[in-house]
Amino acid sequence: MPALVNFWSIVLTLDTEEMTMGRLAGKVALITGGAGGCGLAASELFAREGAKVAILDLPTSDGANVAERIEQAGGSACFIATDVSDATQVQRGVQEAERRFGAVTVLMNHAGTIEVGPFLDTCEDDWDRLMAVNVKSMFLVTRAVLPGMIAAGGGSVICTSSISGVVGTPMEVLYCTTKGACHMFSRAIAVEFRQQNIRSNAICPGFIGTAHGRRELELLREHGTVISDDMLQNMQGRLCDPIEVARTALFLASDDASFVNGAHLFVDNGYTAA
Ligand SMILES: NC(=O)c1ccc[n+]([C@@H]2O[C@H](COP(=O)([O-])OP(=O)(O)OC[C@H]3O[C@@H](n4cnc5c(N)ncnc54)[C@H](O)[C@@H]3O)[C@@H](O)[C@H]2O)c1
Repeated sequence: MPALVNFWSIVLTLDTEEMTMGRLAGKVALITGGAGGCGLAASELFAREGAKVAILDLPTSDGANVAERIEQAGGSACFIATDVSDATQVQRGVQEAERRFGAVTVLMNHAGTIEVGPFLDTCEDDWDRLMAVNVKSMFLVTRAVLPGMIAAGGGSVICTSSISGVVGTPMEVLYCTTKGACHMFSRAIAVEFRQQNIRSNAICPGFIGTAHGRRELELLREHGTVISDDMLQNMQGRLCDPIEVARTALFLASDDASFVNGAHLFVDNGYTAA
C-alpha cells in the first residue's frame, strides 16, 4: 500500500508541475508593441505561460504599467522604452533585454501602424514613416536578436502581418505594401535559419477590436471606403478579439508548433477564404 501511495503522489506531483510550468516555461520573449492591443494581450499571456517577457514599445506607451502588473501577478516582465524603427534604440533595447533575461528565444515583431488615404495624395515622408515602423523595425529587431537566439540553440520568430498582405484595400496602398513585405520577411527568415533551429511565421489577422483596428475602420469610412458593420459581419463575422491573436502567437511560440515554419497563419474567421 505505501508503494501505491508513493506512485500516485509522484504522478500528482508531475501533473501539478506540468500544469504550473506553462507552455513557454524557460523561454525569453521579446515583444515589440507589447504595451498595446494584441501586443499587450501577448505580453500578459506569454508571461502567464511562464516566459520572461521584455516589452519594447514607445516611451509614451503604457509599457511600464503593463510590466509592473505582470510582475505583481507573479510573472517576469520588463519594459524597455524603444522606438523600434530607430537602429540605435533597437540595439540598446535588445542588449538591455538580454542583460535582464538572457538570450531571446521568442521574438514577436508586432509593433506597427496605419496610413489611410488616396494613393495620389501620399508623399515620400508617409512612405518612409510607414516602411520604417512596419518593416524596417522587423529587420532591425530580428537582426539584433538572432545572434543570441542562434547561440541559445534556436527559437521562434513571429511577425504580425495582416490580411492586407494578400488583400488590396482602396486607400491603403502603403499599408498593404508594408504587410506584403512582412509576409516575405518572415518566410525568407524561415528558410535561411531553418538549420539553426529557428522557426519564423507570420500571423495575418483580419480587423481587430484594438485602437489600430478601430482607427483603420474610421479612416477608411472617412475616405469613402465603406466597410459597414454589415459588410464586416459578412466578411469575418465580428471583430477579432486581441486575445485570439495572442493565442495564435502562443501556439507559434511554443514547442507545439515545432514543425510549423514559414507559414502565414490567417486569423480572420474566413475573410480571405471567401
Ligand atoms: N488592429 C487591426 O485590425 C490589425 C489587423 C491586422 C494586422 N494588424 C497589425 O497588428 C499590429 C498592431 O496592431 P494592434 O491592433 O495590436 O495595434 P495597437 O495600435 O493597439 O498597438 C500597437 C502597439 O505598437 C506600438 N508601436 C507603434 N509604433 C511603434 C514604434 N515605432 N516602436 C515601438 N512600438 C510602437 C504602440 O505604442 C502600441 O502599443 C500592427 O503590425 C498591425 O499592422 C492590426
